Amino acid sequence: MDRKTFYITTPIYYPSDRLHIGHSYTTVAADAMARFKRLTGYDVRFLTGTDEHGQKIERRAQEAGREPQQYVDEIVVWIKKLWETLDISYDDFIRTTEERHKRSVQRLFTRFYEQGDIYKSKYEGWYCTPCETFWTERQLAEGTCPNPDCRRPVELVAEESYFFRMSKYAGRLLEHIENNPDFIQPASRKNEMVSNFLKPGLEDLCVSRTTFRWGIPVPFDEGHIIYVWLDALSNYITALGFESEDDSLLWRYWPADVQLIGKEIVRFHTIYWPIFLMALGLPLPKKVFGHGWLLLDEGKMSKSKGNVIDPVILVDRYGADAVRYFLLREIPFGADGNFSEEALVQRLNFDLANDLGNLLNRTLAMLGKFYSGEVPCPAATGAGDEDLKKAALELPSRLEELMDQLQFSAALSELWKFIALANKYIDEQAPWSLARAGNRDRLATVMYNLVESVRIVAVLLQPFMPKTPPRIWEQIGIAGKPALHTWESLSQFGRFPAGTKIAAGEVLFPRLELGADGVPVRQATKKDNRPLPDTEETKRKEEKNKAAELIAIEDFARVDLRVARIKTAAPVPGTDKLLKLTMDLGGEERQVVAGIAQHYRPEDLPGRDVLFVANLKPVKLRGILSEGMLLAAGDGAGRLVLTTTAGEVPPGSKVK
Ligand code: MSP
Repeated sequence: MDRKTFYITTPIYYPSDRLHIGHSYTTVAADAMARFKRLTGYDVRFLTGTDEHGQKIERRAQEAGREPQQYVDEIVVWIKKLWETLDISYDDFIRTTEERHKRSVQRLFTRFYEQGDIYKSKYEGWYCTPCETFWTERQLAEGTCPNPDCRRPVELVAEESYFFRMSKYAGRLLEHIENNPDFIQPASRKNEMVSNFLKPGLEDLCVSRTTFRWGIPVPFDEGHIIYVWLDALSNYITALGFESEDDSLLWRYWPADVQLIGKEIVRFHTIYWPIFLMALGLPLPKKVFGHGWLLLDEGKMSKSKGNVIDPVILVDRYGADAVRYFLLREIPFGADGNFSEEALVQRLNFDLANDLGNLLNRTLAMLGKFYSGEVPCPAATGAGDEDLKKAALELPSRLEELMDQLQFSAALSELWKFIALANKYIDEQAPWSLARAGNRDRLATVMYNLVESVRIVAVLLQPFMPKTPPRIWEQIGIAGKPALHTWESLSQFGRFPAGTKIAAGEVLFPRLELGADGVPVRQATKKDNRPLPDTEETKRKEEKNKAAELIAIEDFARVDLRVARIKTAAPVPGTDKLLKLTMDLGGEERQVVAGIAQHYRPEDLPGRDVLFVANLKPVKLRGILSEGMLLAAGDGAGRLVLTTTAGEVPPGSKVK
């Protein structure tokens, strides 16, 4: 229990819709940080969750014809699944509809009221429901929401409400901000808060609403619902048991070390939130970091922009580690940056397949060739060794320094500099020449240093790409040696046990290229296409299987195969795999449901000719009639490509 603690939080997401890659960005960053701190020995608490109340969610549920609870329940299941897919190692997931949260928020509200921070009055002003924000007449931008990314219509609100006396704490907050330069990061956001909001003077904040029901009622005045931002911000302490029977977590972990948020919610987190905390007599978070946005074609992302930003599809195509790497590496944390699949594929090819992949593969291949796969004992030092060792020993503290400033991209770039150095070491030492010259002592040292460097890289990769290091341990033969995976094991160069047997395996990141349709295609490399081991046993099995699987021509003739032209394509609501298509079979129209949504965008399909099984028994999928089947080829690695004819033939043509 005497370990240093580290509490990190993400914003809690609105479950009004499925999340996109922009939301995943915040969470992946928080996860990398949490994992990094765990690696360096901290007792970490990592909190995420969902912000489920408010008018926005109530309306979305209504539009979907659902009860709000039922509506959010489904999306929350999806979100938790997404975090699992992205290897998000949260310690707690708070939902604002949970009893533990609601109870705490009600107690907190009562406390504010009893100590005179909250008073009842009448609110007259404007409300932006998409932003769940109150605005004064003066703040509006030509009558619309002044948030530059919103600019949607606002609604006039005139209702009896409770107000929080913000002005009472404004001076203290300003002082805190000035005295703690680390509190709001990056510094530009701090300046904005101070000059745009604090200096002009804070107005009291309306903290209850009466015109809708979906929220936490004010306990002593049930007609009032607690303002969703007060409800939401409190999650960071209600999840630690604030005002509950057991608040030991609060004492252990509060104040938070880092609260990660996007830039558009900095105001809530650096003005309202600290003021609420001051009113509760709790210390303020040590750092609130407002990161930039991931943009799509220079504009803000939204779910309506389609598949390219669906994190599930991206993980399916590239793997969680490649997506995580891209998010953390591509854009300096804090700044806005553009998201594109092409850039992701480039990172994957250059950084992961080439730099990292080559270092591992070359090392393994040479160990195989020169030492039959057994790591030799170093025997003769030489020029170049010291540089490599020095860099390896300096790397952990360099990374730690950058991570403490949340500079994920710079930290990864340091790690990659080391990878580049190790690759250069191979080129300069030219182990193949040492082998040819019979210089076995020097060869042993070079190969040993390389495998030790690979180990060090894998240890430091863990926070960023949690799936890859175990694959590397496996191949360099230290999967069963957890002591060699730790931060402490980096304090010395030379921990790798000589005599270890390596086991070269699958290529970590096969190179990809983006096909004309925007779908990634695996590039053929010698390594990817390595034939299966050609043993007598496998040959016999294959022969046997072949005999059992042969069909007669009559069997084939029973299948009515046609060329069909896709007329329309649309997603099937509630699934991310299925598309509903209408097919032209030359005068006859068919409706089918096909499991290709993760491989093709609906808008890219109409007009394409595909091979089609026309005499399949109709079935209902998700309640939709499906009369036939499109044929597609799978590459065994998860990619699916529709089949078609080599030349133009009219729809309905028979395939024989
Ligand atoms: N529910 C509030 C937060 C309450 S915290 C007490 C909320 N939710 S949100 O779902 O709209 O956004 C959550 C986070 O996702 C925000 O930090 C936001 O900045 C981030 N992102 C949403 N789209 C994003 C990008 N395109 N790029 C980067 N981050 C983005 O606000």
